[in-house]
Amino acid sequence: MPRFVVTPWEVKGKVDYEKLVKQFGTKLIDAALLKKLERYAGGLHMFLRRGIFFSHRDFDWILNMYEKGEKFYLYTGRGPSGYTHIGHLIPWIFTKHLQDVFDAELYFQMTDDEKFLFKRELSLKDATGFTYDNALDVIACGFDPRKTFIFSDVEYAKTLYRTAIQVAKHITFSTVKAVFGFTNENNIGTIFFPAIQAAPCFFPSVLKGKNIPCLIPAAIDQDPYWRPSRDVAPKLGFYKPAQLHCKFIPGLGEGGKMSASQPETCIFTTDKPEVAKRKIMNAFTGGRATIKEQREKGGNPEVCSVYQYYYFMFEEDDEKLEEIYRECKNGDRICGDCKKILAERVGRFLVDHQRKREKAKSVIQDFMLKD
Ligand code: TRP
Repeated sequence: MPRFVVTPWEVKGKVDYEKLVKQFGTKLIDAALLKKLERYAGGLHMFLRRGIFFSHRDFDWILNMYEKGEKFYLYTGRGPSGYTHIGHLIPWIFTKHLQDVFDAELYFQMTDDEKFLFKRELSLKDATGFTYDNALDVIACGFDPRKTFIFSDVEYAKTLYRTAIQVAKHITFSTVKAVFGFTNENNIGTIFFPAIQAAPCFFPSVLKGKNIPCLIPAAIDQDPYWRPSRDVAPKLGFYKPAQLHCKFIPGLGEGGKMSASQPETCIFTTDKPEVAKRKIMNAFTGGRATIKEQREKGGNPEVCSVYQYYYFMFEEDDEKLEEIYRECKNGDRICGDCKKILAERVGRFLVDHQRKREKAKSVIQDFMLKD
């Protein structure tokens, strides 16, 4: 039995990302690719330097096309089943970076239909409500309103449906069974849904009347969706969508990704700084039982959730990050202080994000696609 599981609905255990790349048949982002990207971006984003975005499909191809003058658009999304947490922001922050570097349009799918179909207890009204709530967090990441199109599947169904049925016609039940593990007990909406998530890989090309390459930055758990999408693409006369995959930010507990189902180990974007502080002060660390022991033997940043937060988001300077690591290992850094510093940074981030989130309320209609 594998010690970890990664599917679009479940991430369990300690993920071995190199193994996952082999299992999924994607490629690691290598030094040559990073070098190429560095040229365009004038440096490497922290998420690339640290291997947080670590895997891809056809990203080299997208860059070659770009070099030849063929611009791509970005596609990403969110399943609106609850409030946004910090982990959700990682791919969005990176997508915003890509939008800036490549001057790319972004199509952002809110799969309220998916969450309604897959979550027994979630009503359609609540799922669509979360679409609008979560869209505020997306907008707060700073996307360009002239180039960013957010849509609810339920409300943009007319446009999506035309492309989705073209995709669906080429995907058999046995394929989605093999890819997603569907069984005869699945409701029939879930079986059709992969065609809806595939549609934004193509419909912008349909809307513009020409074939445009598509790049999808997303967490690696979404990869299964892109396999049938890529298989179908040439049959419909489209380019295969390319992907950039990221890892999961861990929760504040011991192991496991950040998950809204464990609110005490999860920092929501709407948490008050005091609430986030309380969660951080209770976090699982790599510290020793006593301060004395910590000073003598040092801590273990490798297993520490607090260190992971510096690594993923809250210490951009690589040298300073290394210093944190060293100080911890040497026993010069005590968990209580380390948590307090993190809590201050997270608090500042939240205040700023919440301010932008409030402002987003007055411009949300400029971002939403309707048909
Ligand atoms: N299925 C995704 C989720 O549950 C939402 C989603 C739709 C998505 N389209 C996407 C995520 C494209 C990343 C990229 O969160």
